[in-house]
Amino acid sequence: CGIIGLCLRDKKALRLGEAIYRGLLRLEYRGYDSAGVAVVSDGKLVVLKGKGKLRDLEEKYSFTKLEGVTGIGHTRWATHGAPSDVNAHPHTDCGNVFAVVHNGVLENYLELKKALSARGHVFRSETDTEVVAHLIEEYYRETGDVYQAFRRAVAALKGAYALLMVTPLEPDKIFFARKDSPLVIGVGPGYNLVASDIPALLEHTRRIIVVRDGWVGYITPSSIHVEDASSGRLVNAADYVRIVEWDISDAEKEGYPHFMLKEIHEQPRALRSTLHGLMSDAMMGEAAEMLADADTVFVTGAGTSYHASEYFALISMRLAERPVIAFIASEYGSYVNAAGPRDVLVAVSQSGETMDTLKALRAFKKRGSRVISLTNAVDSAIARESDVAVYTRAGPEIGVAATKTFLTQTLALTWLAVETATRIGSLRGGEEMELLKELESTPKHVEESISTTSELVKKLAERIAGSKSMYYLSRGVGLPVAREGALKIKEIAYVHAEAYPAGESKHGPIALVEPSFPVVFTIPNDAELQRMLLGNIEEMRARGGVIVGVLPRGSELRERVDLAIEVPRAHWIATALTHTPPLQLLAYHVASLKGLDPDKPRNLAKTVTVE
Ligand code: G6P
Repeated sequence: CGIIGLCLRDKKALRLGEAIYRGLLRLEYRGYDSAGVAVVSDGKLVVLKGKGKLRDLEEKYSFTKLEGVTGIGHTRWATHGAPSDVNAHPHTDCGNVFAVVHNGVLENYLELKKALSARGHVFRSETDTEVVAHLIEEYYRETGDVYQAFRRAVAALKGAYALLMVTPLEPDKIFFARKDSPLVIGVGPGYNLVASDIPALLEHTRRIIVVRDGWVGYITPSSIHVEDASSGRLVNAADYVRIVEWDISDAEKEGYPHFMLKEIHEQPRALRSTLHGLMSDAMMGEAAEMLADADTVFVTGAGTSYHASEYFALISMRLAERPVIAFIASEYGSYVNAAGPRDVLVAVSQSGETMDTLKALRAFKKRGSRVISLTNAVDSAIARESDVAVYTRAGPEIGVAATKTFLTQTLALTWLAVETATRIGSLRGGEEMELLKELESTPKHVEESISTTSELVKKLAERIAGSKSMYYLSRGVGLPVAREGALKIKEIAYVHAEAYPAGESKHGPIALVEPSFPVVFTIPNDAELQRMLLGNIEEMRARGGVIVGVLPRGSELRERVDLAIEVPRAHWIATALTHTPPLQLLAYHVASLKGLDPDKPRNLAKTVTVE
């Protein structure tokens, strides 16, 4: 979900309804099954909300016309309670005095709901969030003090939350609290804001404060009051202000029809700034030292970040000749007991907020293991809780399907693998320089990979758009790339796609292959892998499959596939960088042909802050 709140000194500072609506549009990628706004206007609370897309709701309710000086908004991705008008946020208490928006999941809401119902509270929705409004009402009755009531309500909550609350009783304040769900304050001239993430604030300010876990407080148009909920100690907010480098244009489409396409084309630039960061950041050396010194290295992530993790494991094992265990973040329970103080976990997450990855990180830390994080968001929870934080510099990614963050992750992780192997001493003389040089050329290779394959991929998309199912096969370092290709087309074009190690495809999957069944091979620039893949290509061809090969320019295998998508001939360690762009484009074009919005695939959210 995405939340935003704005506190203005006077109505002239900004137009409240419009600013909230525009902020919500920027947050929509975090969830879009329903939305709502609450403003305090002339001493009254006005709440408008409903099921549906933000633009349709704007037609119905005219959020942009809302006037006032204080307001909050929410765009929802349902967890508790199906998408519906009543379940949409903001939620209010019985007296309609306190309006709350929330991102996260409250674990003890049933218990709280029962206790509150027994005290006469009547609930309108099935959400966990509504209990917060009633709790505040309950404590306000007891204390007569809004902030105290808010703090007590927050203290009663178990689970994850980023919460905002407004009330006509304190018309110039937005109350906030955070635990395990992201929240950022924006400091502006004549106004302050608070939102789930930075892109929603960029239009108004680049001065931000990342709200820390356990903080509770309120913003007014000219001040920020923060305290640490557990100790009650006051926090000096000014100490935490930082200026973000991101520009507002990073959060806009700049003439592209979709963010996804813009972000695919932005990849060379994102790689250049990530390279620049890697070369100048001392953390990379520290991380490599830590890995070289470790007994066992684990690496984890969710979704696309898991594919980058697997890629890291495969490259590391080939270069450093040591085992590296990759696992899907939500499965950490099966791995954590094997970890100890001499081991290192690499946690990969573009947002730095994914709950599964955060939980894995915490579980490994409990076992005494050290953690290296790779995120795209400075000060994010995963970065903060790790021992060494390394960053990609992809800029904000708005499209729900990860694109530029995947390429920058694989670049940074490959760099890390090379640095680690150098320290271990497993590379031949001069090989380190050779490999790093290869990585420095990747922005150029990616540029070429996008420009030379775009037209061909569009044609391929037309052939594939009618397919219900397809395979993505590869071997070795190509396998995570195949997995990423399959995930992309599944996520945004709703084509059932499975990725398999090509050698395994004859042990079952091949049963589905019949004439015109599409099989996409990712073919790395590696003679041995190509030799083995040839056999698998022939097996699929013999069953009538339509064989697509994403392969290095000049590869002999081009003659053996039905459609060859040639990418720059780079070193095999750069396979994820050279081979992924046409697979991203394929998913994008199939989605477009099917009339789907690739930026907002159904049922998915950009950042999943629930377990
Ligand atoms: C969600 C997104 C995926 C993303 C995954 C992990 O499922 O839809 O695109 O790969 O979360 O996100 P992270 O921010 O941890 O990389």
